[in-house]
Amino acid sequence: MTDDLLARHRAVLPSWMPLYYDEPIELVSGSGRRVTDAQGRSYLDFFGGVLTNMIGYDIPEIREAVERQLATGIVHSSTLYLIRQQVELAEKIAQRSGIPDARVFFTNSGTEANEAALLVATNHRRSHQILAVRNSYHGRSYAAMGVTGNRNWSASGLNPLQVAWLHSGDRVRGLLARLSADEQVDAAVEDLREVLATQTSGDVAALIAEPIQGVGGFVHPPDGLFAAWKKVLDEHGILFIADEVQTGWGRTGEHFWGYQAHGVTPDLLTFAKGIGNGFALAGVVGRADVLEAVPAISFSTFGGNPISTAAGNAVLDYLTEHDLQANAARVGAILADGLRAAVGGLDCVAEVRGKGLMLGVEFVRPGSGEPDPALTTRVFEACRAGGLLAGKGGLYGNVLRMGPPLTLTEEEAREGLAILIDAIRSSAEVAA
Ligand SMILES: Cc1ncc(COP(=O)(O)O)c(C=O)c1O
Repeated sequence: MTDDLLARHRAVLPSWMPLYYDEPIELVSGSGRRVTDAQGRSYLDFFGGVLTNMIGYDIPEIREAVERQLATGIVHSSTLYLIRQQVELAEKIAQRSGIPDARVFFTNSGTEANEAALLVATNHRRSHQILAVRNSYHGRSYAAMGVTGNRNWSASGLNPLQVAWLHSGDRVRGLLARLSADEQVDAAVEDLREVLATQTSGDVAALIAEPIQGVGGFVHPPDGLFAAWKKVLDEHGILFIADEVQTGWGRTGEHFWGYQAHGVTPDLLTFAKGIGNGFALAGVVGRADVLEAVPAISFSTFGGNPISTAAGNAVLDYLTEHDLQANAARVGAILADGLRAAVGGLDCVAEVRGKGLMLGVEFVRPGSGEPDPALTTRVFEACRAGGLLAGKGGLYGNVLRMGPPLTLTEEEAREGLAILIDAIRSSAEVAA
């Protein structure tokens, strides 16, 4: 029984690990884009376990690849031995990364991937100064929390890095809000120059940024900003790290990686979430001279293990063969256009934003424009009651987030869109 499980969960797991919904649910089976809970209720899943079930649930090609590896009897060998699946996946990722002469290091989580990127960047530059972006989320280790610009997700002030903060691309609030795209790029570049001149000693190791801020509620800067930033960074030899944990693998529809919208190539790129389609797989890919900056033995016991990389290879092959990037663009447009047309004009909707199958709706109090997390929660619960799972995010918890599997069909997009519109309209009426 879910109720019993909830009590047991609360008795034995820490309270800082939140559960979604007034009545938390246990998902017991899944197929395609649909999941079923312990009460037998079926949902269309627009959040995919926080964008991890990137291909969908119970996909035969992925299940069979993992079963083939299981059947060998080798679930794990450690990286002390050659792992064929790992080498193959590294070759594919290096080639797809766009980074010349790339090396790949596999980890189990996005946190560890960013930790590794920060390690090599600080070693390579012999500096522990980092530039990070407000409203970012990069993980839960000390260094990853240290570059996370969101109080709600920073559980400690201890920080091995010295961090200076840049403005995010928020168009709703903050100093750069309501500027045109060109004005925002100019202002953000000026901000970078000023921060470098006033808050650092110049020899900064790297700038780390998400192309679209995931936990931050899918806030993203205008296209081209990263290239404008990179010009300034290059004057100082500062490295650029793109955190593609949420934006990678074609999710934005227009490109394979989020950074490509900016006409720039990062020195380091971190990935996680979707590449394992639920199996724990993450890593960092970077220029050889940077990634080799580890003057000691360093390894991850489980990173890139035979099972997770078997899944990773199957995921990458599947999304390439089915051109899921094109699907994300096509189906994402149905959702984005539909949402903008139906609810974009409501006083309580500050912005419908995002790219491809990474879309957010920000809710505010009409008149004041203050964030409205209560309305967001009502919409979120109404979606669930209507049979749709979505996510929440944003600095103030006032953004509804959609990141469905990239295999979402047009029919499913329309079905989910109708539930979303209904949930937003009915919740907004209650508020009015
Ligand atoms: C952009 C980004 N970076 C890093 C992380 C941390 O990844 P993990 O939870 O796998 O450690 C997340 C997780 O949500 C993320 O969204």
